Amino acid sequence: MKLSVADVEVKGKKVLLRVDFNVPLGNGRVKDDTRIRAALPTIVDLLQRGARLILVSHLGRPKGEVRPELRLDPVAERLSELLGRTVRKLDQVVGPEVENAVNQLADGEALLLENVRFEKGEEKNDPAFARQMAHLADLFVNDAFGTAHRAHASTAGVAEHIPAVAGLLMIKEIENLSSCLEQPARPLVAILGGAKVSDKLNIIRRFLELADTLLIGGGMANTFLAAMDYPMGDSFYEEEMVGRARDILEAAEESRCCLQLPVDLAITRELTPEADFKVVPAAGTLEGWKAVDIGPETAAFYSEAAAAAGTILWNGPLGVFETPPFHRGTEAVARAVAGSRAFSIIGGGDIVAAIEEFGLSEQISFISTGGGATLELWEGKELPGIAVLQDKEVK
Ligand code: 3PG
Repeated sequence: MKLSVADVEVKGKKVLLRVDFNVPLGNGRVKDDTRIRAALPTIVDLLQRGARLILVSHLGRPKGEVRPELRLDPVAERLSELLGRTVRKLDQVVGPEVENAVNQLADGEALLLENVRFEKGEEKNDPAFARQMAHLADLFVNDAFGTAHRAHASTAGVAEHIPAVAGLLMIKEIENLSSCLEQPARPLVAILGGAKVSDKLNIIRRFLELADTLLIGGGMANTFLAAMDYPMGDSFYEEEMVGRARDILEAAEESRCCLQLPVDLAITRELTPEADFKVVPAAGTLEGWKAVDIGPETAAFYSEAAAAAGTILWNGPLGVFETPPFHRGTEAVARAVAGSRAFSIIGGGDIVAAIEEFGLSEQISFISTGGGATLELWEGKELPGIAVLQDKEVK
């Protein structure tokens, strides 16, 4: 159990708060503010208790270069709107101007640093850069669960210099994502989709140990179907992963978990909303056509499994949901998950966006702000951004 910021005195303290404001932008505005809203409880709590708040986040992958389109100004604007007060945004992460601005903060005031990945030292976890950032503050609070799987200067390095505790979102994420694997209500049904098997090898193996049923869809299902020597036409699949997919299918035979692949597919020649499509058996993809969604029979039996589940963990859409009508498989299963009595958790940007688009978010028990971080936690890995935080004393 990690020490929460709620257990620490913060009045008058300079607090470096790492948040994950890695949000989609469009036309100079924040397109989806979910991650900003998720950090509000910690921000509001710290401000109300008189902390002097220094917010730090990354946005995108600028790789140590200043990229004007990845400046955090739109984020500061949205945060100010949500808080109902202006949050000043600086154009640097460290340096004399930042130090001056921090020294002028009054109790209960906040500022936002520039995109921390503009600094070359961030992703390298450069000790000198971490020290420079840590010296701005008296306390480090990590609320950036979505970035906790990265050992970077602002997620891990700073904790070597100042006391480090977990934010309220971080605590909520750890509790929800861990408890569902410690003593899950069974059957435990895991649903994995998305494009690539290569991103999900570890989690598949982990779910074969822990879950009762593993339902696979999306582009990654194609690699498994190719491993069964089914013709895949022009479908996307990872040819170099076919051997690994075969190993997984063999491992599944030995495991107590029932791994399910699509039995039918929606195929099209062109990925556009107007294009012709057909539903074919999983072994029936035609030359020149590509599989872009699970078929209705698969959606029906995946939905039945979801409806009967005690716990559901879901990462990755089951088809190209952004291009209707190839959202149908994902939507049908999402409706079953939302309507089930199971404790349901979804994680990963794409499936979270899909669930929101279907208007089902309220009916999901917990929506994680993490993508890669959620998967790594479920894999049983120790996340660097969590490992550096102080443990709570057990009395
Ligand atoms: C995410 O969006 O998953 C997190 O913000 C981490 O971003 P990254 O994959 O660029 O490290």
